[in-house]
Amino acid sequence: SKGEYRHYMLKEIYEQPTVIAAALEGRLGEEGVLVESFGPEAAALLQQARQIHIVACGTSYHAGLVARYWLERYAGIPVQVEVASEYRYRDVVVPEETLLVTLSQSGETADTLAALRFAQNKGYLSSLAICNVPGSSLVRESDLCLMTRAGPEIGVASTKAFTTQLVALMLLTLATARAKSRSVDPAILSALRKLPDLCRQVLGLDREIEALSQAFAEKQHALFLGRGAHFPIALEGALKLKEISYIHAEAYPAGELKHGPLALVDSEMPVISIAPNDDLLGKLKSNLQEVRARGGQLFVFADEGVGIDEQEDTRVLHLPHIHEALAPLLYTLPLQLLSYHVAVLKGTDVDQPRNLAKSVTVE
Ligand code: M6R
Repeated sequence: SKGEYRHYMLKEIYEQPTVIAAALEGRLGEEGVLVESFGPEAAALLQQARQIHIVACGTSYHAGLVARYWLERYAGIPVQVEVASEYRYRDVVVPEETLLVTLSQSGETADTLAALRFAQNKGYLSSLAICNVPGSSLVRESDLCLMTRAGPEIGVASTKAFTTQLVALMLLTLATARAKSRSVDPAILSALRKLPDLCRQVLGLDREIEALSQAFAEKQHALFLGRGAHFPIALEGALKLKEISYIHAEAYPAGELKHGPLALVDSEMPVISIAPNDDLLGKLKSNLQEVRARGGQLFVFADEGVGIDEQEDTRVLHLPHIHEALAPLLYTLPLQLLSYHVAVLKGTDVDQPRNLAKSVTVE
């Protein structure tokens, strides 16, 4: 039941500290990720793997895009990510020793399942499903699986399923790095352990995010910007907003702004930007200046210490500092809350948006 919450989506947003802790439970040891979490043969397979193909749909696809940044950076393994409905109809060329990873909340999405079946005679090393529903078709038909443990997700808009997928993908990244004897910053591990608490702190910003949401209720369009692993988080933020509030939203890597979308920016175009403290911050700041110069209204979710200040045309909400590797997880939460509050203001059916189904079991 929804308990004290007005909608399932809100309840599921608030469950994230708990389910993220569940997704980590028993999977971290003193030295790092317990590779056996992925199955008894996982250590040997990850050591053998020379590249990874990730296939998924919708929000799960966005999780895959984040994982590409992580796996290439921390595990040094080449990664390709594709939406299942394209992948399954393409003449995919599979290099030797490639691991296939499918991502799905339900494990019943028709295109993702068909992609897995299509891949079965393509010579993959093995298939791993990262999934939330035990015993689902995807889990049954894959060689290995890692459950995300988010619990039942009722809201059509995926929230806790996404953040627990990201946790699972960070575990995969660290396990792959370990299998390949690559050292990773031990601070990532301690940040993972602190993640549920940091998420709780971010949920504490709910009132402020609700106040921000008023600026969107009358808008027709919105632009989301991020760089690096925060570009997929911008994509996910835009998907959430369009899905439940029916506001047209698009996401761009901030560096693409001047290659076209800047033409759309005027005082009627809210621009939401994600500004964690990483080595792309300087570049992002100059992109934000380009928006200001066109009269755009900026809404920035930023790390405490980044020096982006409130101005007449710039609203800033500060998030607690987090290791840059895990920032995509934390910055997802304010975007979920923002679209939730905009939808409530607009009076749409938050848990059952028009035209959409929770599980897309037909093509
Ligand atoms: O169950 P799956 O993760 O395979 O579902 C994939 C998409 O249908 C799903 O993520 C969809 O995009 C959500 N409604 C997004 O909120």
